[in-house]
Amino acid sequence: MNLHLLCGFPILYTNIDPNSYDKEKIVDTITNNYKKQNVRQNWSTSAYETNIHHSAGDESNKKFTFPNYDKLTKTYIKPLQEYKKFIGLKKDIGFDLCIANYTCSSHKSFMEPHIHFECEFSMIHYLKFDQSQHAPTIFLNPYESWEWWSRTLKNKINCEKTHQAWVYSELSYPTKEDDLIIFPSMFRHFVNNKPSKDPRITVASNITLIKDQRTSEDKKLNV
Ligand SMILES: [Fe+2]
Repeated sequence: MNLHLLCGFPILYTNIDPNSYDKEKIVDTITNNYKKQNVRQNWSTSAYETNIHHSAGDESNKKFTFPNYDKLTKTYIKPLQEYKKFIGLKKDIGFDLCIANYTCSSHKSFMEPHIHFECEFSMIHYLKFDQSQHAPTIFLNPYESWEWWSRTLKNKINCEKTHQAWVYSELSYPTKEDDLIIFPSMFRHFVNNKPSKDPRITVASNITLIKDQRTSEDKKLNV
């Protein structure tokens, strides 16, 4: 479990054991939804022309099957507990996790730069990801006016360490299948998908800070 700061943001980077939940079932459900309609986009209203297959804002659409995430949420408990310690969460504050949506794509597609609203932290789980075919999530340097500075600095500073991330305007991880990342929800990010033989599938979750520990409901987990 790798905990570090990226441009000052607390990040947890780890991987989830694919045998610890019903991965195949979830992947099949999502892949079948994708086959029904490559572009499922009821989320963006901007001019970016986001054209991914994305369940956000379209969960009630009966054309598609809603994946059962019950077993998956349990695999997130340990990383969430570690992240809580890392950020120094006060004892009377808890995490309320909600699996927010999935994305699936094997066509050339774009998910526009965005932050996650109405939550404090977010999580991306890469259920299907092949480094040779798929594009990683790109995080944008949160500091302003980095385009010029990054061009002049990145050839002059050894940027092998994550603490040198401030030099770059765009940041990404060498993503592998089953990786999981937790980050503050205001860390803006986007995905520029390449055409691929196999689908790239991610599940995104949002974490809200709550005062007390509530019992679990559908798709929600208190840690
Ligand atoms: Fe996102």
